[in-house]
Amino acid sequence: MTDDQTVYLNGEFQPLAEARVPVLDRGFIFGDGVYEVVPVYGRVPFRWAQHHARLVRSLGKLRIDDPMDAAGWRGLVDALIARHPWDDQFVYIQVTRGVAKRDHAFPKGVTPTVFAMSSPLPVLPAEQVSKGVAVITLPDERWLHCDIKSTSLLGNVLARQAAVDAGAAECVMFRDDRLTECSSSNFWVVRDGGVLAPPKDNLILEGIRYGLMQELCEAEGVAFEVRPVTRAEVLSADELMLSSATKEVLPVTLLDGHPVGDGTPGPVFRRLHAAYQRAKAASAASAGLAAH
Ligand code: PDD
Repeated sequence: MTDDQTVYLNGEFQPLAEARVPVLDRGFIFGDGVYEVVPVYGRVPFRWAQHHARLVRSLGKLRIDDPMDAAGWRGLVDALIARHPWDDQFVYIQVTRGVAKRDHAFPKGVTPTVFAMSSPLPVLPAEQVSKGVAVITLPDERWLHCDIKSTSLLGNVLARQAAVDAGAAECVMFRDDRLTECSSSNFWVVRDGGVLAPPKDNLILEGIRYGLMQELCEAEGVAFEVRPVTRAEVLSADELMLSSATKEVLPVTLLDGHPVGDGTPGPVFRRLHAAYQRAKAASAASAGLAAH
């Protein structure tokens, strides 16, 4: 957060410190809303079409009317980026069902609240890439609609705090014996040189990096197998990785205090990380192309 941030709220651009939402907003009262986090490299939103599609999907699953068409959303994101001096940013978008007298059932005739802001993209500590991060395991105690990118994030918040309390960067969660994901990232298992990916079902959020990891694996000739992954397969993996808009792809080298493989980032991570950096650079360069 910086003092000079301009945010968008219900059709107006205004200073962050002045933006106000009524207390009866259902986002505040019920966590009744959806959100997106879009990384921006060289002033170009990275994989915007996929982020927009997921936003539309999340709204549809919660039966919140989409307040804008595709061109409107893109125009809003571009306007926010243009208002800030940083080449690399991340755009946060939130849509709630709107403001209404408190009642659990959907109110009729309300207008969704639309909020968006852009912040400088935090630079990942070089050590996290070169040495990897520590992760703890936890039971997945969230609800059964984790595919919706909802602002109701209490399960994720409590899980992340448990990781912080344990001195770890993230937690990886299991539903019974089955791998799901982390508190705010997807999780990848490397065995025998290939990547194992948990299925895109209601138990995980399909990260925009999910499709990207699949594409990068295909381009790099790394096998990418989608299937339920067991706890035993995670505990005995050759390599582990996590991915998100703000963490890109990171190696997990310590799991519950035990080294993963030889305890250093492995060859599959290194290839995918390099390919990820090339994808970012190509996207950023497309701004120059569009301008000429
Ligand atoms: N979180 N799973 C969960 C539960 C997430 O919250 C996220 C992203 C992901 C990865 O999705 P993507 O590749 O689209 O970033 C997976 C964002 C960054 C957040 O809540 O801040």
